[in-house]
Amino acid sequence: MKTIPNLLRQAKDSFLAGKARFHNALPLKGFEQQFLKTPFVDPLSDADLTELNTLLKWKCFTVDSRGRRFGNAAWKGKRCEPQIIPDRRILLMHERFDLTAKHVLEIGCFEGIHTVGLSRYARKVTAIDSRMENVVKTIVRCSFFDVHPTVFKCNLEEDSINMDLVKADVAHHVGVLYHLKDPVQHLLKLGQHIRLGVLLDTHYALEGEANESLAVNGRVYRYKRHQEAGLEDVFSGMYDHSKWLMIKDIVAILQDSGFKSVEIVETRNERNGPRVLMIAQKS
Ligand SMILES: C[S@@+](CC[C@H](N)C(=O)[O-])C[C@H]1O[C@@H](n2cnc3c(N)ncnc32)[C@H](O)[C@@H]1O
Repeated sequence: MKTIPNLLRQAKDSFLAGKARFHNALPLKGFEQQFLKTPFVDPLSDADLTELNTLLKWKCFTVDSRGRRFGNAAWKGKRCEPQIIPDRRILLMHERFDLTAKHVLEIGCFEGIHTVGLSRYARKVTAIDSRMENVVKTIVRCSFFDVHPTVFKCNLEEDSINMDLVKADVAHHVGVLYHLKDPVQHLLKLGQHIRLGVLLDTHYALEGEANESLAVNGRVYRYKRHQEAGLEDVFSGMYDHSKWLMIKDIVAILQDSGFKSVEIVETRNERNGPRVLMIAQKS
């Protein structure tokens, strides 16, 4: 029957079927760019790699030395290109903080792409994510790349976390702030467990978009309310909505958190909105 709920359900089913078709359509071999030496994937037979690629619900992929896919695309248009390791922001982080002797905390490690990159430069990497699925995929990916970070499940918005476990010299904070329901409290706490600085890359709200407000410690911050996709979406935040802050407030909060020097490295426009890359340092 053509009721509105039925039509909506059919539209959702057909969208999900489209996603699944694309997911299954990606070839195993024949990739011609972004070859990465992957010590424990390169020697695998095609059958073993196919098994590895289907055992977990991978949502991004790298290409091994033989042009084969390790992982999978999320869906059409989302992480359907081979991932680059190391990402350019890791090189920037190394340039600014010299990671050689540093302990890095990676916030929101997803499937371990940045974790592998960071592990090549830093003395020690601790990678956390609020989703068990992402924690497991990060551990597996890192192991096949022969890097061995500490990885565990941690929702940084929960009060009950053991702060000793998330202490580090530098934080890698990419693609997570705009998924948080209380980004102000989160940034204010960061200075307590991060000793030197943060590389932060996040969407932000433009002046005209920030039409709601919240008060923290007597200060009022305007934000744009963003609807989150839900717990099943492994890219997403943990609550129904997130709050996108304005750049000037992000800078002020980082300074209040102890990171006195905040450099805006770039702003750029992306599909989901404006985005900023910044480096914050305590001295
Ligand atoms: C958009 S992805 C970004 C992943 C990765 N940092 C990148 O740049 O490719 C956001 C990640 O943050 C995680 N995440 C969301 N909310 C979190 C929270 N409160 N604490 C820790 N991780 C969180 C998600 O599970 C997801 O892996």
